[in-house]
Amino acid sequence: MNLEQFKTDIDNGLNKESKTLPSKYFYDKKGDSLFVEIMNLPEYYLTRSEFEIFNLKSSELIKKLGLKTTTYFELIELGAGDGSKTIELLKPLVSKGFDFKYTPIDISANTLSVLENNIHAQLPTFKVDKLAGDYFNQLGRLKNTPHPKVILFLGSNIGNLTDEKSSLFLNEIARNLNSRDKLVLGLDLRKSKSIVLPAYNDSSGVTKAFNLNLLNRINTTLDANFNLNEFSHTAEYEEQEGVARSFILSKIKQEVRVNALGKAYQFDKGEKIHTEISRKYDDKILEDILTPTCFKIIGKLTDKKEFFADYILEKR
Ligand code: AVI
Repeated sequence: MNLEQFKTDIDNGLNKESKTLPSKYFYDKKGDSLFVEIMNLPEYYLTRSEFEIFNLKSSELIKKLGLKTTTYFELIELGAGDGSKTIELLKPLVSKGFDFKYTPIDISANTLSVLENNIHAQLPTFKVDKLAGDYFNQLGRLKNTPHPKVILFLGSNIGNLTDEKSSLFLNEIARNLNSRDKLVLGLDLRKSKSIVLPAYNDSSGVTKAFNLNLLNRINTTLDANFNLNEFSHTAEYEEQEGVARSFILSKIKQEVRVNALGKAYQFDKGEKIHTEISRKYDDKILEDILTPTCFKIIGKLTDKKEFFADYILEKR
């Protein structure tokens, strides 16, 4: 993490009329492990739904990607996590004799080691070509090979960006691909509030701890005195719009000092700090995001309940 950027982002967010804190700062060591807990929550249907797609529909995915056992290709995963979904795709690729290299890219070398061990447990002779670092730096390095590429970007991770930023992000991926290369984009689909909202406000309070951990991070990194007992968590979701929003809520009127910034910030009782958006999609929303990019939709796989979709995009 860049400390100066962190300071600027925190100060800018807390000075706004409607306060904000960026969700990208959720993921310190504690945040990473809380997110693993979230993925296992009964209310957090996203991970299970996408796992079902990979578990039940890998052969269909291979077909839709146009992969052939006779043509070598590169399978590159951005933000690979523990790899549990991808293993479901690797298994048939290996058993059917496809000729390919799997390169998971993740900012955390530790996460990549966990992934490698998980894969090794199920596919003992399969070699993983792991790359630690920033997606785009690493993708840039891989760009110059002449081989067909399939990029995986799963978990609705793009949903924490605005639609405008998603278009820019996707175009950045496209810049590193050749025409006909593919992107498998995992997206959470629009659905009723009664299903989405509990995923962002679970009954055991893990999401609350995940959200409030951001205040902890400010306390330890910037010598601040947020009292976590005086803040709580809330989430909102409008079905029509298809965006879940997470907030930290000040339970009382209070002042918090952030010593590294030499500043104090005032919070009213009930005041909300917006921390995260989690976009929910349908074909039209994705098509609008893709309009300014070089990608087109060539396929889509969903789980049985149609909670989640893995879209197959091709670079034009
Ligand atoms: C990483 N991202 C897709 C998660 C989501 O669903 O928006 C982050 C998350 N925030 C709260 N719960 C999960």
